[in-house]
Parts: sequence; structure tokens; C-alpha cells
Amino acid sequence: MLETDFCGLKMKNPTVLASGVMGCNAALLKRVAREGAGAVTMKSIGPKEKEGHKNPTVLEWEHGLINAVGLPTAGYKNAEKEFKELEKCKSPVIASIYGSSIEEFTEVAEGIIGFEPAMIEINISCPNTKREGQIFGTSPEVAAEVVKAVAEVCGKIPIMPKLTPQANNIAAVAAACEQAGANAICAINTLGPGMVIDADARKPVLANKFGGVSGPAIKPIALRCVYQIYEAVSVPILGLGGISNGRDAIEMAMAGATAIGVGSATFYRGIEAFKLISDEMKTWMKEQGVKSIKEIVGAAHD
Ligand code: DHB
Repeated sequence: MLETDFCGLKMKNPTVLASGVMGCNAALLKRVAREGAGAVTMKSIGPKEKEGHKNPTVLEWEHGLINAVGLPTAGYKNAEKEFKELEKCKSPVIASIYGSSIEEFTEVAEGIIGFEPAMIEINISCPNTKREGQIFGTSPEVAAEVVKAVAEVCGKIPIMPKLTPQANNIAAVAAACEQAGANAICAINTLGPGMVIDADARKPVLANKFGGVSGPAIKPIALRCVYQIYEAVSVPILGLGGISNGRDAIEMAMAGATAIGVGSATFYRGIEAFKLISDEMKTWMKEQGVKSIKEIVGAAHD
């Protein structure tokens, strides 16, 4: 019922662990796969070892989460151990990369292709990595430049840029990425930066003050982005942003997502979120007489 082929990745269900949620911890990623995730995404790997921000890095607020972890990474030169540990992962592993220039993106991609991840997510949408003050994924031209350069070094490994909802025209960014060689589109990254202030402390709560906003509050934005991207590209979409239950996942598929990312929901529902969401999707599908998830991908379009 839920079996999904996403860009050649064979998944038992369409749920995908979003990048960063389980940190740079291979054992946790493997556990998430055992507990039911159809695929898992690693924390974005960068060009050089980097510690990240001080605590607190993640907070719950009224309608979701906010985080500024600061892209901590061992750097691609130290990534071998994590990749080796993930060889026994029960679900396909999607690597994720970031850089602060086109050259850094290609350097990291070249540095990890030897580990043969099932797919490479290109994080051009982190609120913390910017080129001249601009998030890479806000401009179709800049996004396409990154994708083209990474495509040239990735050979047969499918590549998937992760887009930001802050683009003026996310469909144009997605179309430019497809033209530049993207095999799939991932949308959306966190929204932001945002901030949380504690009235009694009279201070921002995150150590970094600002961070990416995620969780239930951003679901309508994520649905709109995926809906518009679906109309602009023919490559498959990994849709995420505020997906907490099976009904949310069905709605995301109807907007046009073939695979469905889960991030903040692991905070609310634990590591079982993937199994719970899959079971809830199946219950809805049985009630509606839907035999395969494929039947509803894009169903909300005219
Ligand atoms: C971080 C990275 C992201 O891509 C994001 O959306 C939010 C935070 C980080 O590591 O700080």
C-alpha cells in the first residue's frame, strides 16, 4: 500500500527522516530506520569541522519548534566512520551537504560520493548559510549554479536540492534546479530566521537568538510550496514541513509529494512517529478505498 519508489530509492513507506533531527548520530539514524522510516537523511556535512552553536539550540514554542544548531559537522574529511556505520542501515540513506560557496558545495560532494549514499540532498536553504547575505535557494540562478556544479561531480548518484519557502517564486527555483540537473526536489526547509523571547528573562532564548521555525505552524506554507513546485517540475518531490500525522502526510501527497519528510513530529511523537504516521495513512486509505499511495500523489491539483 505504502511502498514507494523515490528516484530509484526503494522505500517500504514514503516517510523520510528530515536532515538534522537526529544530529550526526549514525546509531540513531539506524534506529529510526528500524522503527519504520522509509528512508533517513543525515545531518548536512560541510567543508570543515565545525562545532555549532551553544545551547539552547532547540526550543518548543506554542505552535512548533525553533532551532539554531549552527550546522555542526565533522567535515567531509572525517565523515567515513558515520558512512561506514550506516552501511547496515535498514532503509536508504540520504546524505546532505552544505557549503558557503559553489566551490565548497562541489568539494563536499566530491568528498562523499565515494561512500555511495543513495542520494545527496543539497542544503541551499539553511537560514544560517548565506552568500553575500542571501540564502542560496532564494534565487533561481544561484540555486541552479549550485545544482549544476554538484551534478557534474555526482555521476549516477541522484541529487536533490532542499528549497527555502523564502524564495519569491519557489516554483521558479525548482524549475531552474530541474533544468540544472536535479533528480528530485526537497521542500521545505525551516522558515526564518525567527526568534523567541522570554518575557520574564527579557531576553531571546536561543543562544544564537535567531533560528529556523518548524512544526505544525509551517504546514500550510509547506503544502503551498509543494503544490506550486509540482506544477512546475516533472521530477519527484520530497515534501516536508509540519507533517505530524497520517492525515497531514496524505495532504502532502495530494499537494504533489512522492516522499514525505518528518522532522519536528519526532519531538512530539517520539521515534515511533514514522510507524504511527504510516499506520494512520493506511487507515485513511482503507476507509477511502485507496489501494496505493501513488493514486493520491498530486490529487489536489485540478
Ligand atoms: C540549521 C540548519 C538548517 O538547515 C535549518 O533549517 C535550521 C538550522 C542549523 O544547523 O542551525
